[in-house]
Amino acid sequence: MPTLLLGVSGGIAAYKSADLTSLLRKRGWEVRVVMTPAATQFVTPLTLQTLSRQKVHLDPFDLPADSGVAHIDLVKGLDLAAVVPATANLMAKVAHGIADDLLTTTLLALRCPLILAPAMNSAMWEHPATQANLRLLESHGVSLIPPASGELACGDIGIGKLADVEEIANRIEALHQKRLHANRLHGRRVLITAGGTREPLDPVRYLGNRSSGKMGHALAAAAAMRGAEVTLITTASLPVPPGVGAVPVATAQEMLEAVQKHLPGADLLVMAAAVADYRPARVASQKIKKSDEALTIALEPTPDILATLRPLRRPDQLIVGFAAETDSLIPHAQRKLERKGLDFIVANDVSRPGIGFESDENAVTVLGNDGVVANWEVASKQAIAERLLDLFADRLP
Ligand SMILES: Cc1cc2nc3c(=O)[nH]c(=O)nc-3n(C[C@H](O)[C@H](O)[C@H](O)COP(=O)(O)O)c2cc1C
Repeated sequence: MPTLLLGVSGGIAAYKSADLTSLLRKRGWEVRVVMTPAATQFVTPLTLQTLSRQKVHLDPFDLPADSGVAHIDLVKGLDLAAVVPATANLMAKVAHGIADDLLTTTLLALRCPLILAPAMNSAMWEHPATQANLRLLESHGVSLIPPASGELACGDIGIGKLADVEEIANRIEALHQKRLHANRLHGRRVLITAGGTREPLDPVRYLGNRSSGKMGHALAAAAAMRGAEVTLITTASLPVPPGVGAVPVATAQEMLEAVQKHLPGADLLVMAAAVADYRPARVASQKIKKSDEALTIALEPTPDILATLRPLRRPDQLIVGFAAETDSLIPHAQRKLERKGLDFIVANDVSRPGIGFESDENAVTVLGNDGVVANWEVASKQAIAERLLDLFADRLP
């Protein structure tokens, strides 16, 4: 069970720490609550004790039964610490190492990452002292979940509302996952293709497809987070994730050449790009002019990247393809896996509304040579990418 130290300081949003405690408990976390004296004016220790199902800690001089020291015992076995809400006062104290109550003393003794979710009146948030403390905290490696804008408890409209509790829980879990998986792919080279290829018709037009590149970019981010050396061959103009080397390409031919160049050093190749099967047989050198006549465009097959690579691949490389289908998903994917000699194929039904192309979410079935390996219902492309990378990391020789 992952363990979180949840600090609660004395802001009006302190009552929301009760929802966060309850949500994290449901998601399988142990939550150790430490409150500042001011926080107890806004929410009772009894509420947080009941929801966390353990004693709430308030007083540095309240000696533990086993004669330990409270703030030192509290940090043992922690995975993460978060202060929700974090007052301007608490941020100032943590930034400067002041330890004058149990929470600030415990935070100074931490050996795990710390997340702060500030909440305060806009004027307090915008004050140069708070902004300077914020920068100082970030330079100490503290993660911040910035406040949202909206109507504040004092009646003002502006920035300062505590971020959404579910978003805070997601950030806590994401940071935990990142730490768990850091370095799982250390020393490995991962090659990923992303986006839909564009096959030119003339200098201004192309034949393309609806692949956005979001899945491939999410895979590159997840691989980099696991310590891999990542090359992303992409047609998409999406941001390149930190630590990833990008190779921009447009056509199937350019993608083939880039994959051929980078494949020899790779341990894992994930072909998430939607590569055109056909391209215009002739590319007009000038823009094709409009006329009243019907226009027929002759198409020719593009090179089959995976088939071309087959003789080049080493037996210790893991090769993964994607199959975007609109019908008979599993049989089509199974045939593609066999025909192309893949280790795995990730199949998604792009006819389902809300997932697949252009969407931020996906639902996939992963097939290996022994049949279905995983079947994941709708989740964010980031979450699917994380699970895929963990699955491939387990299977790398
Ligand atoms: C009704 C009320 C609401 C408050 N809300 C906030 C708040 O949202 N954010 C904040 O930074 N301070 C807020 N304060 C001020 C803090 O309670 C005060 O700075 C206190 O010293 C914080 O102590 P702590 O940081 O040790 O919990 C509020 C004070 C009162 C009386």
